[in-house]
Amino acid sequence: MPLRGEDAADPDLLIDFANVSLRRGNQLLVGPVTWSVELDERWVVIGPNGAGKTSLLRIAAALEYPSSGTAYVLGEKLGRVDMSELRSRVGLSSSALSQRVPDDEVVRDLVLSASYAVLGRWREEYEDVDYDQAIDMLESVGAEHLAERTYGTLSEGERKRVLIARSMMTDPELLLLDEPAAGLDLGGREELLARLEDLALDPDAPALVLVTHHVEEIPRGFSHCMILSEGGVVDAGLLPDVLTAENLSKAFGQSIVLEVSDGRYFARRARSRAAHRRRE
Ligand SMILES: Nc1ncnc2c1ncn2[C@@H]1O[C@H](COP(=O)(O)OP(=O)(O)O)[C@@H](O)[C@H]1O
Ligand SMILES: [Mg+2]
Repeated sequence: MPLRGEDAADPDLLIDFANVSLRRGNQLLVGPVTWSVELDERWVVIGPNGAGKTSLLRIAAALEYPSSGTAYVLGEKLGRVDMSELRSRVGLSSSALSQRVPDDEVVRDLVLSASYAVLGRWREEYEDVDYDQAIDMLESVGAEHLAERTYGTLSEGERKRVLIARSMMTDPELLLLDEPAAGLDLGGREELLARLEDLALDPDAPALVLVTHHVEEIPRGFSHCMILSEGGVVDAGLLPDVLTAENLSKAFGQSIVLEVSDGRYFARRARSRAAHRRRE
């Protein structure tokens, strides 16, 4: 591996974190995390509530500076770069964003306005090509028929798909999805996972990082996995190597049984010996 100077970014890495931590006062939210993501990789970050997943994603989205360690995003060193310019090159979809969308926002405008990284059409002028691009993005998540609807009238599943369309509007090099399937019913989850599977398998799609706390929400086609627990990395690497019952048991603090079926993952708690004996 070629040596690189302290400030030279590796051009093949979209995320390149060395001992990155984020603190608020005395509290460690996440870290230290050493992690790199390449262009054609599709990552799942999994861990219990409070593990630090959203905090990690916020650094990757250039929304936070690391409190310690060195973080490169798209080859730019956080702390050395115009964060708002960098943010426009990263797509992010999260429930925090969803909550900020006004009910009367028209879906088409919500997607369009991503080009200006603002919510709402206020004072912005758009070109026809932007409009066409917004419809294309909606189509890619099966939501083109929702273009003229207002956000407040959408189901939770439709909202998630529309927000993903929005996060892809700027043609980002890196797409970050924070719990995209949270709160969906079975049909909505499966519909979304099918779209994410298409995206994962599309060689022209951006590098993907998907955060979840349910293994059932991992779409097929994802290649890599990081397991986080209490801010620290339990394991990271190729998905089949990392996503094991042993690692999940460590991360979730209970004995987990993991099943893989047709490229999808299913987890539950192992039954105790006593429960086994009661059935006999
Ligand atoms: N702004 C904040 N100030 C203080 N603590 C926070 C803040 N945001 C998150 N935390 C804490 O940091 C930890 C990690 O949070 P988070 O990254 O949201 O975890 P996850 O997304 O894995 O559920 C949690 O213990 C959470 O309570
Ligand atoms: Mg979170």
